[in-house]
Amino acid sequence: MYRPQKGGIHPREAANHHAEHVVPLIEDALRQSGLGMGAIDVIAFSQGPGLGPCLRTVATAARAISISTSKPLIGVNHCVAHLEIGRMKRAVEDPVMLYASGGNTQVIAYAKPRYRVFGETMDIGVGNMLDKFGIMAGLGFYAGPVIEKLAREGRELIELPYSVKGMDVSFSGILTAAKQHLKNGCSLQDLCFSLQETVFSMLTEVTERAVAQAEKNEIVLAGGVARNRRLSQMVHEMAAERGAGVFEPPFEYLVDNGVMIAWNGLLAHLSGQRMNIEETTINQKYRTDQVIVTWR
Ligand code: FE2
Repeated sequence: MYRPQKGGIHPREAANHHAEHVVPLIEDALRQSGLGMGAIDVIAFSQGPGLGPCLRTVATAARAISISTSKPLIGVNHCVAHLEIGRMKRAVEDPVMLYASGGNTQVIAYAKPRYRVFGETMDIGVGNMLDKFGIMAGLGFYAGPVIEKLAREGRELIELPYSVKGMDVSFSGILTAAKQHLKNGCSLQDLCFSLQETVFSMLTEVTERAVAQAEKNEIVLAGGVARNRRLSQMVHEMAAERGAGVFEPPFEYLVDNGVMIAWNGLLAHLSGQRMNIEETTINQKYRTDQVIVTWR
């Protein structure tokens, strides 16, 4: 996995990392599974959303394999793939998904023939906000786990903007306020505690409303931020009050993973979807509700 030396993710460096690792990674996967290329039915890759250089690198690799092996090629929506692997791994039928990661924050549920975005961030992803705060507070990159630990020692709730607008959320104002509090000498533990309480309450509120509106009784979690035990606890409490179930896929399927792309590609392929090579260009802003779901 790509981990920046310092600061945040640099798109070109991340793309170089992907280019360096893609061939050995595929060789490794084939070796571990004991399968040859002959056993592969379809080549799936993430078509978006995401960082352009990274998506482009992997799409090029996927096209090259598809052409050289004459196997069909299928582009997958990253966010929808999270939901599908959640359904597969926890055997849920028709959940509302709270997808909270660095780059994405969405509440998604199925309403034929698409996955609809019930609520989402208007600016940055919740994980991105936590990471930016972490960089400023000197906690290193991927600050989420450190913030979670410090939050357990927090005692006082500092007021931060609670930004829920309709079904959407925003985090940049909260980040600015938290940075200001830090500059003013506020306790880091209290700030981490308050950040978590505020933004996780927002996410839980929007998820609850989506569950009610869409009339679902299952919730599935996805994304790196969903590893946070406090967020999980809040969602569990809300779900228990509503009589809904919460399903958390095993760690390796909760965060970004290749299996979810492969699985979603297979679902699409088996339902008859085919793509010409011209249709496999990446889309950095590929929206969840642009996908026509042919496999449900
Ligand atoms: Fe993701």
